[in-house]
Amino acid sequence: MSGIDAKRVRTRHFYEAKANGTKISALTSYDTLTAGIFDEAGIDMLLVGDSAANVVLGQKSTLSITLDEMITLAKAVTIAAKRALVVVDLPFGSYEASEKQAVLSASRVMKETDASAVKIEGGVGIAPTIRRIVDAGIPVCAHIGFTPQAEHQLGGAVVQGRGDSAKQLIDDALAVQEAGAFAVVLEMVPADVATEVTKKLDIVTIGIGAGNGTDGQVLVWQDAMGLNRGRKPRFVREYASIGDTLLEAARSYADEVSSGTFPGEAESF
Ligand code: KIV
Repeated sequence: MSGIDAKRVRTRHFYEAKANGTKISALTSYDTLTAGIFDEAGIDMLLVGDSAANVVLGQKSTLSITLDEMITLAKAVTIAAKRALVVVDLPFGSYEASEKQAVLSASRVMKETDASAVKIEGGVGIAPTIRRIVDAGIPVCAHIGFTPQAEHQLGGAVVQGRGDSAKQLIDDALAVQEAGAFAVVLEMVPADVATEVTKKLDIVTIGIGAGNGTDGQVLVWQDAMGLNRGRKPRFVREYASIGDTLLEAARSYADEVSSGTFPGEAESF
């Protein structure tokens, strides 16, 4: 198995991976069956992302998903994840009002889901909140660059950290590290800037649309495995065509039901 060499992946293994140059693999997961498969495949980190709002609940943005919904999905994932580190997104509206609100939301995730960490979007501005959650004993993965919860403020899904704004991105990365985050997701960042951030940090960087110079990679599983048959971001590579396979299989099932060939004797009592 490639990736982190551990029976159960812990945040401390992320620091070891950085020191050894071991690349970390991460996928999103929102249900028990995919979590079990990705865990068995050796994916190091399963992210119960608020992208569930898009790929599970069919919403245009991630803004509508609630903490209760995230907790329900996260429970399903932790049941199946025997090895992978499970990280759960704090959704929009569950941490911005105050540091107290953030600690209470993160505590609910840890108490009710059996996950190992939370993820929170934002850089310099959210660093004090990260510090409070970490001080409460809860590991935090930060998320900078394009942060989907701020898509209306950022003007859509656009690359962040280009040109002069690279300095802001580096400041954000250093701030979340200083605040105690054990890892940081870099989303839609120029590859050279992501590589520079990765070299500057002692914590792991996990890229999505951030080139090959980060310490790890994450993708939304429905994009990576081709369940999503719609438009996909340029940074996605498809490792399977599950959507096409499912379509063909569902058509066969419908045909066999209509023709009366399913169920047969073998499927009957
Ligand atoms: O919610 C999510 O899936 C994410 C990834 C895109 C990193 O935050």
